[in-house]
Amino acid sequence: MSLSLALIEQIKSEIEQVILDNSEKTEQFRLDFLSKKGKISQLFDDFKLVEPALRKELGKPLNELKQAAEQKWKEAQENVANQPKEKTAKQFDASAPAWNFPVGSRHPLSIIANEIQEIFSKIGFTVAEGPEIEDDWHNFSALNFPKEHPARDMQDTFFISAEPEIALRTHTSSVQVRMMENNKPPLRMLMPGRVYRNEAISARAHCFFHQVEGLYVDKNVSFADLKQTLLHFAREMFGEDTKIRLRPSYFPFTEPSAEVDISCTVCKGKGCNICKYSGWVEILGCGMVHPNVLTNCSIDPEVYTGFAFGMGIERIAILKYQVKDLRLFSQNDLRFIQQFKSAW
Ligand code: PHE
Repeated sequence: MSLSLALIEQIKSEIEQVILDNSEKTEQFRLDFLSKKGKISQLFDDFKLVEPALRKELGKPLNELKQAAEQKWKEAQENVANQPKEKTAKQFDASAPAWNFPVGSRHPLSIIANEIQEIFSKIGFTVAEGPEIEDDWHNFSALNFPKEHPARDMQDTFFISAEPEIALRTHTSSVQVRMMENNKPPLRMLMPGRVYRNEAISARAHCFFHQVEGLYVDKNVSFADLKQTLLHFAREMFGEDTKIRLRPSYFPFTEPSAEVDISCTVCKGKGCNICKYSGWVEILGCGMVHPNVLTNCSIDPEVYTGFAFGMGIERIAILKYQVKDLRLFSQNDLRFIQQFKSAW
């Protein structure tokens, strides 16, 4: 369309009709009318082709149009800049439905740890915690580990410093020592926590995992008490018909020591790949607290005896939920962890 008064008039009324009440519209207006490719610039391009006789007649209204458009854009820009950023009270809809907050789920290891605590708290155990960075005394020496014991080897332990010997604790038995050092018997405690071992990561092993340690020290605590306590735990945790089996074992800090198996919860003892067709699965280590350990913690072994046990929370969770790969517990894949719900 060639330049004419009518065309200028038409664009003028177009400009007047636009309402510029936000920054998007203001910018669009600038693009449509004022930018290099905008309508007004095009009119100016066309103006160059207009015959000299008509130039006077069209030049003035064309300039006025441009000024009006610029004025409108400037004003709109100022208005938009002065507008409050937040929603005004008018825009706030009090009747809108409330946010739907997603309900989180507990991590399966927390669920199992809480379940274990719940079972033992009903028979008088209280919960205690200790540091993950430990000295040699609490992690090894006080627990009757001879200096040359292979568990002190660099293979198993993440050492932090050599002098003094500081390491990431390799078991929660270190908390056992701390509790006996600082409290007088009777002691009946449960000590959950994270432990670290320098192991290659696979479906069955990790460089960190979680344990719960149990400790009961009093006068006349016997191996029979230990066995009955663990039978009670196994039944509460895995069901009334669960059986336990104790096999002689060795830990420097307990004497006698045992490893405890439960009848396989999956096949009920018939044999499956979870129990490697034996009908039994190992769940924990235990024993009577070694007299040397009691002495190291200033408890008289002539007066007091005690039992201790320690189990891996991952192992219990694997059995309970039949999880095939240990790594799933620390990968934080929501598809895995959202499958677990609990009341605790
Ligand atoms: N601390 C042992 C381990 O990590 C388990 C254990 C605890 C054994 C208490 C006996 C008594 O394997």
